[in-house]
Amino acid sequence: MYTLNLKQMTQQEFLDEYWQKKPVVIRQGFKDFVDPIAADELAGLAMEEQIESRLVHKTDGQWQAAFGPFESYEHLGTQDWSLVVQALDNFSEEAAEIIEAFRFLPHWRLDDLMASFAMPGGSVGPHMDNYDTFICQGSGKRHWRVGDNGQHIEFAAHEALLHVEPFEAIIDVELETGDILYIPPGFPHEGISLDTSMSFSVGFRANSAVSVLSAFADHLIDNEKGNKLLTDANRQVVSHSGEVTNEDYASIKNQIQRLLDDEASFKTFTGQFLTAAKHDLDTLLPDEPFELTEVSNLLNSHAIKRLGGLRAFYFEDTIEQGLCYINGTELAFSNDIANGVKLLCDKVMLKPDDLSAWSHNAAFVELATELLNQGYWYLAEAE
Ligand code: SIN
Ligand code: CO
Repeated sequence: MYTLNLKQMTQQEFLDEYWQKKPVVIRQGFKDFVDPIAADELAGLAMEEQIESRLVHKTDGQWQAAFGPFESYEHLGTQDWSLVVQALDNFSEEAAEIIEAFRFLPHWRLDDLMASFAMPGGSVGPHMDNYDTFICQGSGKRHWRVGDNGQHIEFAAHEALLHVEPFEAIIDVELETGDILYIPPGFPHEGISLDTSMSFSVGFRANSAVSVLSAFADHLIDNEKGNKLLTDANRQVVSHSGEVTNEDYASIKNQIQRLLDDEASFKTFTGQFLTAAKHDLDTLLPDEPFELTEVSNLLNSHAIKRLGGLRAFYFEDTIEQGLCYINGTELAFSNDIANGVKLLCDKVMLKPDDLSAWSHNAAFVELATELLNQGYWYLAEAE
């Protein structure tokens, strides 16, 4: 278990002072931190097809980047390269534990856990992110510089590397194992490994209006909605045929507005959009489907754990109506199990004691059976 120690600050004080506002170093945010995954295991993962990974190195002073899967690392030598693996939470239960320390933020804001291994001198170069990132230093040390936000010129140092022009540092530190560097979006930064090192970045990303609108358009197309043509059966003769009247403009705009104002439909879209998997899930289906009677007993003897990277949310005002969203799908359930469903969405692991009110409830057991059979939740030792 990773326990976040914000020193003199409460979590709310951290949010008030730093979240989305300014970067900060939290020395020994994780006391006695141990890498949840070894460097060679990480390198092995980056050899797999479904893992998103990237190698960044410098050859003759030129930045180079390549995307995985990789076959070997031998040609890279022993310095000036780094390997980055995205969505490690989908593939390593131990690494996913780091995210648990950040549950004081809502899970819908979470993007993924990224791991980076670097040789001495290794770096991905100076850049800016669209993410709020908590860079948790694992083994080894890294030198980090962070600049202020504002106008910074970005350029392609390589076709796959967007870098930023040199910046003045407002933070200039050496991070040691267990230290955490929080960086909000838009602050340029650069980390250079001082020895062989690992770091684990918990990234939070909000969506831009254009990405939501584009996904909403796809949702409308998939559901054959919003395709009614504008009607104007009461059209009056015009004397200025080049004019778009205020009334016509309003009805064009209203065509879009009506889709956004359809609260139930927009909520379904939002729930599906927020829970859609951003990276491949490592779903493991049970050999034999579970039976209802069996599951009721299993919930008394085992913990159930949510698949790493699976997104499951509910809306504050519709959970009681029996609606939740899991992995891009809207799920309806009997509203008397709303509090049980909240537990499934709020907590990654549920032990028999957590579910004592639900393990004999037929509707809850039915839902749990379905989720176990889909491989979205799995059985774990109750400990
Ligand atoms: C890294 O850890 O190598 C890069 C992390 C970051 O700058 O976001
Ligand atoms: Co970054």
